[in-house]
Amino acid sequence: MELNILTICYLIGSVTFILGLKMLSNPATARKGNLIAAGGMIIAIFGTIFLYEENGQKLGNYPWIFGGIAIGTVIGFLAARKVKMTAMPEMVSLFNGMGGACAMLISVVEFDHIAKLFSEGWTIYPPLSQFKSDAIPVISKGHILIIVLGLIIGSVSFAGSVIAWGKLNGKVKDFSFKGQHLFNIGLLLVILGLAAYLIGWTPTNGAIIFYSILALSLLYGVFFVFPIGGADMPVVISLLNSFTGVAAACGGFLYNNKVMLTGGILVGAAGTLLTILMCKAMNRSLANVLIGSFGGGGKTGAVGSKDQGSYKEITLSDTAVLMSYSAKVYIVPGYGLAVAQAQHACHELEKLLESKGVEVKYAIHPVAGRMPGHMNVLLAEADVPYEKLLEMEQANDEFSNTDVVLILGANDVVNPAAKTDPSSPIYGMPILDVELAKNVIVNKRSMKPGYAGIENDLFFQPKTSMLFGDAKKVLQDLIGEIKNL
Ligand code: TAP
Repeated sequence: MELNILTICYLIGSVTFILGLKMLSNPATARKGNLIAAGGMIIAIFGTIFLYEENGQKLGNYPWIFGGIAIGTVIGFLAARKVKMTAMPEMVSLFNGMGGACAMLISVVEFDHIAKLFSEGWTIYPPLSQFKSDAIPVISKGHILIIVLGLIIGSVSFAGSVIAWGKLNGKVKDFSFKGQHLFNIGLLLVILGLAAYLIGWTPTNGAIIFYSILALSLLYGVFFVFPIGGADMPVVISLLNSFTGVAAACGGFLYNNKVMLTGGILVGAAGTLLTILMCKAMNRSLANVLIGSFGGGGKTGAVGSKDQGSYKEITLSDTAVLMSYSAKVYIVPGYGLAVAQAQHACHELEKLLESKGVEVKYAIHPVAGRMPGHMNVLLAEADVPYEKLLEMEQANDEFSNTDVVLILGANDVVNPAAKTDPSSPIYGMPILDVELAKNVIVNKRSMKPGYAGIENDLFFQPKTSMLFGDAKKVLQDLIGEIKNL
């Protein structure tokens, strides 16, 4: 009876995970989706704690279990409350690392368990002759394979995520040496060789091999993430996230726990899809992100710098007049808007213009900013209504009948080189076709390049005017000007 209730708990958990994921794909339903999936997770966890039985015995260990839950809940709650929006990728990375650490520890505990069984006279199958013997209890090699897989993937994910966290908050600097990629491949081959040896071997004295795999996998995680440019971290974090999912799924196999398996597979699949989508939106291969130095933290100046002619500037008062007397204005937010924390000022400008009868919308590029959905989250924080946010394809259809496009701290996502210059590193990346609008105003602090490190022809086109300054200060001053008109 209890087992059936537990199965129902797991079914509810699995369904809510899928439902939650679906709802997370839209900002309007994301919060609810997150709560629904969390509710399902709580049902699955408490179902396991109180209903799971093995050989007629319940889990027990309640002080340890509830002590762990209490500590984790307090830390998670406080961290999520206190985190700044710009530090979100850091926190995601750290939490992901904790998932990897859990998978790693499960493997350590289960290996220890197997070693004990082995010392009690259990044997390993295959060979089948032993398997057929009812007299000798057996441990399957498949079981050991899953333990070792969970160990490797979980350790890499844990160590890699901690380094990614350190890089994002500036505590860890990019580090690479000549031949590092070959070193990494060599390290991975040693780990896989040792794993094959352990699985094909008896574990009586396999503990040394097992813990060597653990240490080398941690080292691999560190060296895997070390050379990757700081700005490529979101892609790496998403990849590590998918690793954690697979490692958790290994735990599901080990314990024959359906909800752990479903959850792990969903995280693994979602992380993989997100990684692919981010690479596609940047028009780069995953190998280029992992091995290339594009977007590296040490990058300075523009690559492929050439004389682009002159650009023209616009004053605040001219901008105020132009925007106030427009019928339709599009705002293109970018990384600089997040850096300046100018989202509230931006929303205020939007409301002010609308009070003057101007139609204002936002054009959102899928990789504007530095993390998936960065601009959506940023604008949501300032209570900008979701329906005002248009995706790239929709916005591109609208630009030709737009009076003014105001670009706030965006650069690469509006760079026409992506369409016109095959030698450009961003060639092929879909961009916002802002040039189609009647007027383009670009706000940034200087003529410095953005993430891709390349110049932007848009800034030198006759339709474009530069409005230099920090986005927050410029927007606040612009609001003042418009109010004084
Ligand atoms: P970027 O191309 O990085 O340009 C941002 C611009 O903001 C810079 O040129 C900078 O110019 C300006 N800026 C910085 N601080 C500012 C401030 N306080 N006030 C005003 N402007 C400021 O940004 P984007 O257009 O959003 O493109 C995103 C890039 O990141 C793409 O290349 C994308 O591939 C990459 N990327 C995205 C993601 C995700 S998932 N979103 C992940 C990894 C990489 P100044 O220094 O002159 O002010």
